[in-house]
Amino acid sequence: MPLVSIVPELIRARNMGYAIPSFNVFEPHAVDGLISALQKSAAPCIFGVYSGCLKEANIRAFAAYLRERVNQLEVPASIMLDHGENLEQVQLALDLGFTDVMIDASRLPFEENIAKTREVVQLARHYGAGIEAELGHVGLGDQYNQFGGARKGFTDPRLVAEFLEKTGVDFLAIAFGNAHGEYQSEPRLDLDLVREVRDKVSIPLVMHGGTGLTDDQYREVIRAGISKINYFTGLNKAATARMIRAAAEPGATMFGILSALREAYEETCIHYLEVFGAAGQASSTSQAR
Ligand code: 13P
Repeated sequence: MPLVSIVPELIRARNMGYAIPSFNVFEPHAVDGLISALQKSAAPCIFGVYSGCLKEANIRAFAAYLRERVNQLEVPASIMLDHGENLEQVQLALDLGFTDVMIDASRLPFEENIAKTREVVQLARHYGAGIEAELGHVGLGDQYNQFGGARKGFTDPRLVAEFLEKTGVDFLAIAFGNAHGEYQSEPRLDLDLVREVRDKVSIPLVMHGGTGLTDDQYREVIRAGISKINYFTGLNKAATARMIRAAAEPGATMFGILSALREAYEETCIHYLEVFGAAGQASSTSQAR
């Protein structure tokens, strides 16, 4: 199965009640760890490339590496621009062979978010790419008590239908008490809001700021109607801890430390592919595709 747009997989996830993760990758060892996790789990997945990476000098080489590795997979997998900032960045991602893109204009007023998202939809359609936008704004975990935890930035369910009609995006990130990075205090998720939005729309919904919930909370979020979960901070923590341990071993080498990074990605991704219900979904669906 070559590199694909994740849209049909997300529609299937929505219908079947599981979620597909977007795991962020920044360099080849993490990519290799995730590849290995997908082979073992037989799961569809998204390789999320954060917008900041597109400003790095090595982005063309990194994208070529990603395409090469993902194309060898036997499960459906996508390379996706995460938090795209503008049309130029989306154009670059599409030129680099990314199969899905996110435009994040969620800080802008409603009409401007629509206008910016529409431009991206018009462009990305020519490439057959799937498009995600964000309505409401998912803030940062270290500002949680003043922002997401105080219900600031929440998606207004009354605006969702108009946003989808005017933009035509394929999937939508919503804000319901989720936050990027570590939470300052207990996450306070409004699952009624998720259910309300899900019942109003026919496209998959996305949760950003995947890190920081218990396994049961992820399952509840998915039952409420989330079909894609973006996850990174937990991977960063797991890999960092394991690399520090590897570095402290007698006779430590850079090879051992880099293996620790790959292993941490593999283990953590296997765990969440299972928790999100994506494990096994690649092997059982070849007929449906
Ligand atoms: P976390 O780092 O909180 O898991 O969020 C990742 C994310 O939303 C990437 O788009």
